[in-house]
Amino acid sequence: MYLTKKQEKMLRGEYGWVVAKALEVIVRVGESLGADKLVEINHVHVSGVSYTNIGEPGLEFIRDFTESGGKARVYTTINPGCIDLSGSSKIIDSSPRDKQLMINSFLEKMGFKPIYTCIPYLYRIPSPREHLAWGESSAVIYANSIYGAYTNREGGPLALASALTGYTYNYGLHILDNRRVSIEINIEQIKREHYGALGLWIGYNIREIPMIKNVIEDYSSIKIMLASSAASGSHGLIVLENITPKNTYLVDNRLESVTVEYRDIEEYIGTPPSKEDTVLGYIGCPHLDPYEFIEIYRLLLGRRERRQNKYLLLSIPPLYSRVFSREISYLRKIGVDIGFGTCPIVSRLRQGFDYLVTNSGKAVFYMKNIHGFNTYIASPREIVEMIYG
Ligand code: F3S
Repeated sequence: MYLTKKQEKMLRGEYGWVVAKALEVIVRVGESLGADKLVEINHVHVSGVSYTNIGEPGLEFIRDFTESGGKARVYTTINPGCIDLSGSSKIIDSSPRDKQLMINSFLEKMGFKPIYTCIPYLYRIPSPREHLAWGESSAVIYANSIYGAYTNREGGPLALASALTGYTYNYGLHILDNRRVSIEINIEQIKREHYGALGLWIGYNIREIPMIKNVIEDYSSIKIMLASSAASGSHGLIVLENITPKNTYLVDNRLESVTVEYRDIEEYIGTPPSKEDTVLGYIGCPHLDPYEFIEIYRLLLGRRERRQNKYLLLSIPPLYSRVFSREISYLRKIGVDIGFGTCPIVSRLRQGFDYLVTNSGKAVFYMKNIHGFNTYIASPREIVEMIYG
């Protein structure tokens, strides 16, 4: 692998032991994949920071880097952890609080920004062709597909190494030639509330980089679709006609073409719960953007009491506790449970439920596997009606 003079110095330890170790990891992985050089990155987003997921080994790994003097060399943000940072959620089990706060303090000590959200583009919008090292699949696919940024799906340790060095290896979606569309998908008669199910279908059925025609121009629904396809498949980029910036992808001369319609995705939507079922209504995977949050707040205005055995959980960036404090205190008053800087997929739940009702295909994918829930994909309006109607 070609290395610049500066990178060689880093590897020799002239920038300190931690930088040398971190760069060695990147170079080794890059060489094993056949990468020819390293690329400079402008933003790292570190995932794999939930104590519930990484446990003591992960905590020790992060502690080692911190105590050895590791410091972020580029703008670095942090994904959600396993606790509700406000401490008020009755649904999220925040008992590993001390451990999670320890992880958070190590990361913050290294200069990582404590945003604790999976929508880091809320804080810093990537530019077309800008190299990033992001480690949250839903954010990665959003950065590549919506902004035309260049990032692979980085694992937690590799994203951490990139934060400490400012580099990643030149491989995969960092190279224009690998951002090549070879199939087009036509969407027919699929409503916005079913974009989570559409994403699951794409992830399960399409291996190549697709171009989606006639997608609705609703970025919240697109966000849910992209996250869902990245969960059920391995997509890091889905080209969206008239949305993905030009010159950030190539298109094969001859494209295979498939059509997806309602009957194809029906099985992923599932069936609604009965009145007797204990239901968790969940909205916020990926975390709610401000427009979605206000839309849900409006749907809930004037509601009084939840139905028996029906619960509503929202997951949002901690930032909203300041920006939407009035709305949040109203929602809490009517019994809406809010997870700040977390979500039910990277944490444990305090109680069991018969059913998960959500607009997110990613939540369906994981919570079916983790908790064995029955699932149903619905619009926020339908979810609110089910819980409060
Ligand atoms: Fe975000 Fe949790 Fe979903 S981290 S993308 S809300 S699984």
